[in-house]
Amino acid sequence: MKSLANQRILLGITGGIAAYKSAELTRRLRDQGAEVRVVMTPAATEFITPLTLQALSGNPVHTDLLDHAAEAAMGHIELARWADTVVVAPATANFIARLSNGMADDLLSALCLATAAPLLVAPAMNQQMWQNPATQENVARLQARGITLLGPASGDQACGETGPGRLLEPDEIVPAIIAAGRTSRLAGVKVMVSAGPTREFIDPVRYLSNRSSGRMGYAVARAAEQSGASVTLVSGPVTLAPPARVRVVEVVSAAQMHDSVLAEARSCDIFISAAAVADYRSREKAPQKMKKRDAGISLSLEKTPDILAEVAALANPPFTVGFAAETENLARNAKQKLAKKNLDMVAANRVGDGLGFDSDRNALEVYWRDGSQSLGTASKELLARQLLEIIVARYREQTSEQSHKPAVTEVSD
Ligand code: CTP
Repeated sequence: MKSLANQRILLGITGGIAAYKSAELTRRLRDQGAEVRVVMTPAATEFITPLTLQALSGNPVHTDLLDHAAEAAMGHIELARWADTVVVAPATANFIARLSNGMADDLLSALCLATAAPLLVAPAMNQQMWQNPATQENVARLQARGITLLGPASGDQACGETGPGRLLEPDEIVPAIIAAGRTSRLAGVKVMVSAGPTREFIDPVRYLSNRSSGRMGYAVARAAEQSGASVTLVSGPVTLAPPARVRVVEVVSAAQMHDSVLAEARSCDIFISAAAVADYRSREKAPQKMKKRDAGISLSLEKTPDILAEVAALANPPFTVGFAAETENLARNAKQKLAKKNLDMVAANRVGDGLGFDSDRNALEVYWRDGSQSLGTASKELLARQLLEIIVARYREQTSEQSHKPAVTEVSD
């Protein structure tokens, strides 16, 4: 399975001889399922043409901060928001110096300043330049800010010298990008995620359903897997590629989703219910395709089981997270769901007016018993990672509270 499936990688290329390796890197990233957009500094275009990168990435290449046509199509702030990960390879000594000083005088440095996505930098330069205290200080500053350094490697250099400063090979950079997104914070923790819509058939060819794409749930499953959890994804019918290293259980109806989730709910530690489960289904399913009649028809609907509420009501429930899609009174409705279904957390989003279901982007308001946090508009991949951060923090807090509770309550008078 592809390790970077559906990941949006913004590849920054700066002006060094190693820029030729970025062509191969672009291909390798796409082989792993990533969507790649390339931003080049003007100096980089002296070493390799934007046309090459455009052909390999399948997307227009961005070079200018003040290019009116490009800004109209996808402006630099949009590009910064679009990215799930920003990788600069090769990064010259000059670019590293500008990044360390927070400069924003070209498109790539402006993007690096404007993005909330993780930033990975693969240096490439002459070994003296790399070892110069100025470069070393700049690199240390970047690392202190949480920027990940990929390499450099040591060996023969294009300038004829030998030493540290070579760009890593593309087949070393790709696993490093995959590994950089991984942590072991949820090692040993079992996470179950439900995702996608359900279909409630009224006859063999027609069903009731909704517009859910499943993207948010799949992104949450991927983020949990990247945090080291063992993940089961119970998925309604969607057109998404299954995330790498995630066990997918495919279901169609709410009843099937109910059975699959409940079968494993007792043995999981965290349940994240991102599925848009149909609330109602037809009381009867016609065995044959229903024929058109002259008059209208009425469907008699019954409620489907509330899977999330049932999981939360188990004797020893997992840490339970629900989603709430609201068109109005977001905070009030979300808090009501939290209390009514006895959940540990609710992630609420506004739907309608182009937001939510079919969109690539979203914004979430996250509520728990004694707190809340807003996650501003971002790609669903990035939001999923941010949501998982909150879940991990609350889950850890809850499990440590429980382990500090005395096993036997002593009654004293
Ligand atoms: N859910 C569920 N089983 C159902 C219905 C919903 O597990 N039969 C879960 C969803 O996965 C989601 C949450 O419950 O996590 C949504 O709660 P719900 O009260 O159904 O929200 P809405 O469908 O938005 O309800 P309402 O129309 O009342 O706002």
